[in-house]
Amino acid sequence: MAEPSVSRRAVMMGAGAMAAWAASPARALLAQATEQSRALPAAVEALLGQMSVEEKAGQLTLMAAAWSGGAATALNPAGARSSFDGQLAEVRAGRLTGVFNGNGATMAKRMQSVAMRESRLRIPLLFAADVIHGFRTVFPVPMAEAASFDPDLARRTARAAGAEAAAAGIDWTFAPMVDITRDARWGRSVEGAGEDVLLGRLIAAARVKGFQGEHGLAAPDAVAACAKHFAAYGAVEAGLDYNTVDVSERTLREIYFPPFQSAFDAGAPTVMASFNEISGVPSTANPWLLTDVLRREWGFGGLVVSDYTGDEELIAHGFAVDAREATKLSFMAGVDMSMQSGFYIRHLPGLVAAGEVPVARLNEAVRRVLALKVQLGLFDDPFRRIDPRREKTQVRTARTLALAREAGARSIVMLKNDGGLLPLPRSGKRIALIGPFASGRHDLIGTWNVYGTDAEAVDLETGVRAMVKDASLVSVVEGAGLDGPVAGGIEAAVAAARAADVVVLAVGEHARMSGEAQSRSAIVVPPAQMALAEAVAATGKPMVVLLRNGRALALEGAVLGASAILVTWFLGSQDGPAIADVLFGAVGPSARLPVSFPHATGQEPYHYDHKSTGRPNPPGAPQEYKTHYREFANKALFPFGHGLTYGAIDYADLDLGDAQLTASGAMTVRATIANSGTRAAEEVVQLYVRDLAASVTRPVRELKSFRRVRLAPGERQTVSFTLRRPDLLFIGRELKPTVEPGRFRLWIAPSAEAEGVSGEFSLG
Ligand code: BGC
Repeated sequence: MAEPSVSRRAVMMGAGAMAAWAASPARALLAQATEQSRALPAAVEALLGQMSVEEKAGQLTLMAAAWSGGAATALNPAGARSSFDGQLAEVRAGRLTGVFNGNGATMAKRMQSVAMRESRLRIPLLFAADVIHGFRTVFPVPMAEAASFDPDLARRTARAAGAEAAAAGIDWTFAPMVDITRDARWGRSVEGAGEDVLLGRLIAAARVKGFQGEHGLAAPDAVAACAKHFAAYGAVEAGLDYNTVDVSERTLREIYFPPFQSAFDAGAPTVMASFNEISGVPSTANPWLLTDVLRREWGFGGLVVSDYTGDEELIAHGFAVDAREATKLSFMAGVDMSMQSGFYIRHLPGLVAAGEVPVARLNEAVRRVLALKVQLGLFDDPFRRIDPRREKTQVRTARTLALAREAGARSIVMLKNDGGLLPLPRSGKRIALIGPFASGRHDLIGTWNVYGTDAEAVDLETGVRAMVKDASLVSVVEGAGLDGPVAGGIEAAVAAARAADVVVLAVGEHARMSGEAQSRSAIVVPPAQMALAEAVAATGKPMVVLLRNGRALALEGAVLGASAILVTWFLGSQDGPAIADVLFGAVGPSARLPVSFPHATGQEPYHYDHKSTGRPNPPGAPQEYKTHYREFANKALFPFGHGLTYGAIDYADLDLGDAQLTASGAMTVRATIANSGTRAAEEVVQLYVRDLAASVTRPVRELKSFRRVRLAPGERQTVSFTLRRPDLLFIGRELKPTVEPGRFRLWIAPSAEAEGVSGEFSLG
């Protein structure tokens, strides 16, 4: 990443893109990690020698916890039913490596005690969970948090989530999800950091570091991270979950791989294979992906786990004829551990006996599992994270809840604010709070949260009433249901709007409209809520829209026409207070869209860093025989990087120095950023580059760096960035990182499609 003049750490995290990888110290570090996992403590190596083939297959078998039904059942297909006693029997027999999405320290203690006292070899169990955006304290959904453009915030929330999870007996989280997502129809875009590679890489690394902490994986408050889903799961055709992917190797290397490389670089010891196929080969059985690239090329020495029944699904993909073949294909391609199908415990022993799976491959996979357990400190103390007392006292603390509120406020994106309607005054105005998300403990924490609950989160009405001086001036009306009208709802809403000075309309998607298996064919505010918005807008009262959403939406009608729009996503435990902070100006909005909001669903997949085409439409109205839609230009309605502040920010005085970047040198570029408004602002200044002609066509813009700048009213600052040659690398004709001399255009701008200030430079 181009170097902003600030943080050395940020520079190092971003330096040089995927290209520098092959020669990077990170790769050397990974090779070292591989060596370390090979060099297991002698006792563990000796243990391997004592294990039967079945016990080895057991170490490669992970199941959803069956205690009281297991928390997992709400989030995954039911799968093979198993009772808790049945699972304990498997533990006794050494046929299970661990469980995931279980029910806390009490359950973990029971199971670990059986493993340590009653199994032949006393190998500690591993407890995993989907700790995606918080544990009992719930932080904003990942897409929201990415909007903060603040990797350190992502590190801090992951740290808090990791510590809470570890206090409840969890060793390993299935996070971060680092899939780049460019099609808003895909419901799982909510779990990632959006459409941009640089932002995705920085957030991936930050989350890994946060989960794992700074004191090594054996620390009792550390959890091991798992980068998922490898690879290109976000590229599913038509945004349909689990669907086919057909992308070029260049796109894989340039777009979808880099966040994984950053996650490994940051120390993630595990990775999850994705459900999708790529060009006809399911990832769960793709030797090129899981062995050639991951292990041989990148030197990854950690553990590969399948996704939930990913190996079993090879049959439905039409890739394996039966369970036995699915096991063989997935294991030999490089999936070390099987999640939930039970295929490995059932079929690996037979495959090894028949000589179809070499013992060496079996040992290699088992070593990786044992190495992870060693790293997590489980062989020293299998109960190090299992402490029912800590589980009670170290969750939902004042500190983590304050962090949830801070993260929430820093994730809210202000799309528009006509006439400076926001922030609202805290007194003297009658406020009509209208909409299905105005009140009530529902749809606050969002998808993919196994342990937090809406019941423990604070809703909008509570947040607003606590913020205003006179709560009697706030009226609350539901107006419409989440997915349909409510009787008399619109009439009541219109009456409330008429009686108020300002309307705050909370509309959008409910929590189950995004997340796994929640693809949408129309990414709009549901019709009944749109009808409510139209009726309320017709009163002519000034209107603020608070959008509830787990993806980019195509906004239209009265919602788009509102004077002010705040994107409030699903903000977690402190949803209402965080929104109130921004609504009333206790905190200024500073977040930016990590995904472009399109004009219409039909524009998806849209991403700002698209190619030019041979017939680009010039700025302005669509022209004949140029690249556009009949209805609008091929631009975003609100592009990646867009977000307003309560200040008024101007960009001026681009200084490119001599506008020459030499092969070994650096080029510092500067611009003046001024706040001509009356309120303080925190502006995310973004640096974009376009390679004007190259041997492989390049995107119309690419983000190379960004920086947050605080500006008091009337203040101006010179912001500088340093660009280096590695910032201009791309995947060349030979599918290797390359950089070519030539002309480049550069923007310092407030969004991916804003002009800001721009100029050209050459690379010699
Ligand atoms: C999801 C994974 C998740 C796993 C375990 C799968 O359906 O794709 O992201 O980690 O379930 O819950």
